[in-house]
Formats: sequence, C-alpha cells, structure tokens
Amino acid sequence: MKKYLVLLISCSLAAGASSCADFGARLRQYTYPPTFHYITNEQLKSTMWQLAYHSRELRVLMASPEETAVNRPEVLQHLRAMEQVMIELNRTGWPSNHPLVDANRSNFLQDIRTAQDAVSRDPPNFFRAGAVSGACAYCHGSRGA
Ligand code: HEC
Repeated sequence: MKKYLVLLISCSLAAGASSCADFGARLRQYTYPPTFHYITNEQLKSTMWQLAYHSRELRVLMASPEETAVNRPEVLQHLRAMEQVMIELNRTGWPSNHPLVDANRSNFLQDIRTAQDAVSRDPPNFFRAGAVSGACAYCHGSRGA
C-alpha cells in the first residue's frame, strides 16, 4: 500500500512538471518563436557606438600612406574588433527584431573580412580598410544617416 502511494505521488509530480513545461513552450509560441533573437536597444546602441569608435580610429591611423603602413597592426586590430562587435550583436544567426540588421549584417561582415584579408597580405592593400566606413551605408543609407 505504501509503495503504491509513493508511485502515485511521483507520477502526479512528473505529470505536473511536464504540463508546466508544456505551458512554457505554448506561451513562447505566442510571444517569440524559439528560433528568434531579441536585440535590446541598449545592445544595439552600444554596438553602434563601438563601430563608430573603431571607424574613427581607422581614419586617424590611416591619415596618410606613411602612417597607414606603420600602423598596419592597429588597423587590423580595429577591423577585427568591428567584426567581433557585429558578431556579438546576434550570435545565433536567427532572425531578430531588427530586420535592417538581419538583411545587411552579412554584407557588412563580408566587407570587413575582405578588408582584413587585404591588410594581412604581403604587400598589404589598405584600400578596403579605408573604405570600411562606407559599409555603414548598408544600413544607414548613402548619406550616412
Ligand atoms: C547591419 C546594419 C547596420 C550597420 C552595418 C551599421 N549600423 Fe549603425 N545602426 C543600425 C541600426 C538598426 C541603428 C538604430 C536605428 C537607427 O538609428 O537607424 C543604428 C544606429 C547607429 C548609431 C546611433 C546609435 C544611438 O545611440 O542611437 C550610430 C552612431 C551608428 N549606428 C553608427 C554606425 C557606424 C559608424 C557604422 C559603420 C562602421 C554602422 N553604424 C553600421 C544598423 C547598422
């Protein structure tokens, strides 16, 4: 009899837990699908100000051809940092609440990586790195708004 009671209790506990999980899953269905990435405003802004910082640094480091050549390691560091912050914005690769970001992120990353490759080559080519701020236009329009 005692054995039966234990069985009954553990069964109802298990049933309770599983219906709880069901409820959570059902609730998520009506809020966000499980394959959705939410980007907070704060995160987006912080990412953007980091991008702005690095592209400004690039401009300073590449003010003249001579400086550009000497500053090659720093130029590469800033390009890598820009790549990294854009990756961090959405590590999942799932659609986010910012369709503009979703649509243009991979083009932006592609430009940054092409610039990195060109700077890493021997002899280096800095043309793409110098034009990286133009990649902001994927999302910001051609006037850099
Ligand atoms: C993949 C899309 C995308 C790219 C590429 C991009 N941005 Fe943005 N940026 C956004 C979105 C979305 C916002 C927020 C909405 C808006 O203001 O247009 C934003 C806002 C900003 C802001 C304002 C942040 C605030 O506090 O409101 C700055 C500054 C900025 N971006 C700088 C840059 C710079 C500099 C680059 C290029 C190095 C860049 N962005 C590239 C999508 C992008």
